[in-house]
Amino acid sequence: MNRSKIVLCILIFHSKNSFRGQMVSESQDIEQSEDQPALETIVSLAKRRGFVYPSAEIYGGFAASYDYGPLGVEIKRQIRDLWWQSMVREREDIVGIEAAIITNPRVWEASGHLDVFSDPLIDCLKCNARIRADHLEDNQCPECGAEDQFTEAREFNLMLSTQVGPVEDDSATAYLRPETAQGMFINFENVQTTTRKRLPFGIAQIGKSFRNEITTKQFIFRTREFEQMEMEFFCRPEESLEWHAYWKKERLRWYYRLGIRSENLRMRDHDAEELSHYSSGTSDIEVRYRWGWGELEGIAHRGDYDLSQHSAHSGKKLTYFDPDTNEHIVPHVIEPAAGVDRILLTLLIDAYHEETTANGETRTVLKLAPEVAPAEVAILPLSRNEKLVPTAKKIHDLIRPYFRSQYDDAQSIGRRYRRQDEIGTPLAVTVDFDTLDDDAVTIRDRDTMEQIRVPVNKINESITNRLDELTPHIPEMDEINV
Ligand code: GAP
Repeated sequence: MNRSKIVLCILIFHSKNSFRGQMVSESQDIEQSEDQPALETIVSLAKRRGFVYPSAEIYGGFAASYDYGPLGVEIKRQIRDLWWQSMVREREDIVGIEAAIITNPRVWEASGHLDVFSDPLIDCLKCNARIRADHLEDNQCPECGAEDQFTEAREFNLMLSTQVGPVEDDSATAYLRPETAQGMFINFENVQTTTRKRLPFGIAQIGKSFRNEITTKQFIFRTREFEQMEMEFFCRPEESLEWHAYWKKERLRWYYRLGIRSENLRMRDHDAEELSHYSSGTSDIEVRYRWGWGELEGIAHRGDYDLSQHSAHSGKKLTYFDPDTNEHIVPHVIEPAAGVDRILLTLLIDAYHEETTANGETRTVLKLAPEVAPAEVAILPLSRNEKLVPTAKKIHDLIRPYFRSQYDDAQSIGRRYRRQDEIGTPLAVTVDFDTLDDDAVTIRDRDTMEQIRVPVNKINESITNRLDELTPHIPEMDEINV
């Protein structure tokens, strides 16, 4: 890795926060890498520490399929919960649903996916590699380097099909949903009737989607099975542009809340030729990766495309009756659509830091915001001494109901600090022999490595305060410039 030589001399007393106090033996002079890690570094960390494993590894794996380990599932759960919190629970105007993954195939006829949900596919005439034509760089095969030696592009449908029921014929063909969005459109009337929501209102869903992707590179960035968090916001047509602008800002704010560095985020409007078949305008929130800017979330203006299509195909009127104006209208839709797996990958990359301590050791730290760290606090007895362990476990019992925590007593305390740094745990509580006398513990800060001593009866308060200080500031809407 290209390392820039920034020496951070961490001051003993930070003016910003209250995390002051007793200093400990860990070296405070650190040299920090500014660059993003290589993807292989993240893949290896993910496997070594239990974030993401290759799927079916004991059988040699399965292309572009991954399993999430104990730490990965904790982060995914946090991502989903934070999204649900901000999109559904904190709002009056959005409700949630969970629709079936396998549903009536007519849904996909109406939505247009069976006809036009495809990517242009070409074959390399030299090595037979199958490539997405729109991913080709300099007309060169990414596998063998051959130039200009490709078949004509043909459209390759991305829908994954399956057979339902005991008879395997065409009438039994069904599809795994390629987006969660259609679940909201086909339930528009149900939700509207049962909730009596008036425009504007949204329907949100989190769930798995499936696409037979041609290119599945960059680890969990693009896979065939992935999880989406989508919300369809129904509004009056004349207000739709204003709502599109609103959701662009609101969604960007949410990524700041996750702690993704603002210099690695940008908003980009699609050119007309990039637009999906349903969209009359899309803006992407993009992330700067080592391989270039990539989409993290799309915010599409779907117009009345989906409701009109389902209305035409099902014969059911999917309109909204406005009691103020006494008219039936087909609402327009703004759709923020994000991917859980891609956000997880982005968080790992964005938070990854390597530092060289004054004694020449490399310290790997995931500087994750507390809300997306797999654990907020680790409880570490100094050793497995028979007097320390029961005290440490009792202290863990005090903490456990309030914070995502881990108990770890294996190996030396130094190695355990490093392990917690590497998985992004913001705080470590050390229980030592003094604890037995003074009923106090040491809390160590992941980023500064500073330590303070706090009484056990104030431990939850001290942890709360410090986690609050580490939580990113969320800008107000008018501070967001897109
Ligand atoms: N309903 C609109 C829709 O599905 P999309 O841009 O195709 O739009 C939305 O997908 C988000 O889902 C993307 O921004 C990305 O985060 C995630 N996503 C899409 N395809 C993916 C794949 N093959 N692997 C992982 N995530 C994917």
